[in-house]
Amino acid sequence: MRLLTTVAEFRAARAQVKGSLGFVPTMGYLHQGHMELVRRARKENDTVAASIFVNPTQFGPSEDLAAYPRDFDRDRAMLEKEGCDLLFYPGAEEVYPPGFDTYIEMGRIAQPLEGVARPGHFRGVATVVAKLFNVVQPTRAYFGQKDGQQVAVVKKMVRDLDFPLEIVVVPTVREPDGLAMSSRNVYLKPLERQAATVLWRALSRARDLYERGERDAEALREEVRRVLDSEPLARTEYVSLADAETLEEVDHVTRPVMVSLVVRMGATRLIDNIILG
Ligand code: PAJ
Repeated sequence: MRLLTTVAEFRAARAQVKGSLGFVPTMGYLHQGHMELVRRARKENDTVAASIFVNPTQFGPSEDLAAYPRDFDRDRAMLEKEGCDLLFYPGAEEVYPPGFDTYIEMGRIAQPLEGVARPGHFRGVATVVAKLFNVVQPTRAYFGQKDGQQVAVVKKMVRDLDFPLEIVVVPTVREPDGLAMSSRNVYLKPLERQAATVLWRALSRARDLYERGERDAEALREEVRRVLDSEPLARTEYVSLADAETLEEVDHVTRPVMVSLVVRMGATRLIDNIILG
């Protein structure tokens, strides 16, 4: 695996690539969720590239940028083992040199859900993903369903701005008890970790009801909230049932919808979703 730390170096390496290039953008501290994206990219492309960059512009002023977990040596070894060919690992000054002043402003798709809780988050995500796409020039880019709104935002940006690549969405990888794998799970204290299974139980309950024919969106949301409320350590931030493409809340389930939720468990903010229909 070749390690490239500047845009110029990566571009030179990219110019040598023959055939298709699969790309997995990450912020590092890799786990089996990230590795599933790499394995998928490995299967579907001649060459695989990954990036590790903890993107400052997608963190709010009171968020965990400085504390975001990092372990570059471990990440590098994991990527190497999975057959990644190119690793782009730029410093903050390389991505945002002094005087950087251009951003991608997403429209309605970035307003609800995480857009309310984390103002400016998707502006930062869209901007860095656009920059990475321009540097890496992938044939296919791999994103996890775990961050459901991010998937919708990136797909919309690619469509609206004519990026010449395919977005591949990979199902959420879960711990045996259903908790979605996340770099932030390391923040959970043991009792919180146990309580965190409530997210998957709540989503599974929505799926059960849906499979038994429930199509009333508010009934589904209420049931999800009820399961979440049964866990004393969990504080529900939001429960949403929205059109999977536009992320507008629906009254009735007639098209694919995303059931998404955010729960605070102590100091940790946990996010999860499933698609119904
Ligand atoms: P990060 O949180 O490191 O996630 C990188 C990719 O891994 C994302 O596409 C995310 O959805 C996916 N992922 C995380 N946990 C997963 C799981 N349990 N199952 C499947 N996929 C999972 O998302 C970001 O970084 C950043 O916003 C980024 C896109 C890199 C832009 O900075």
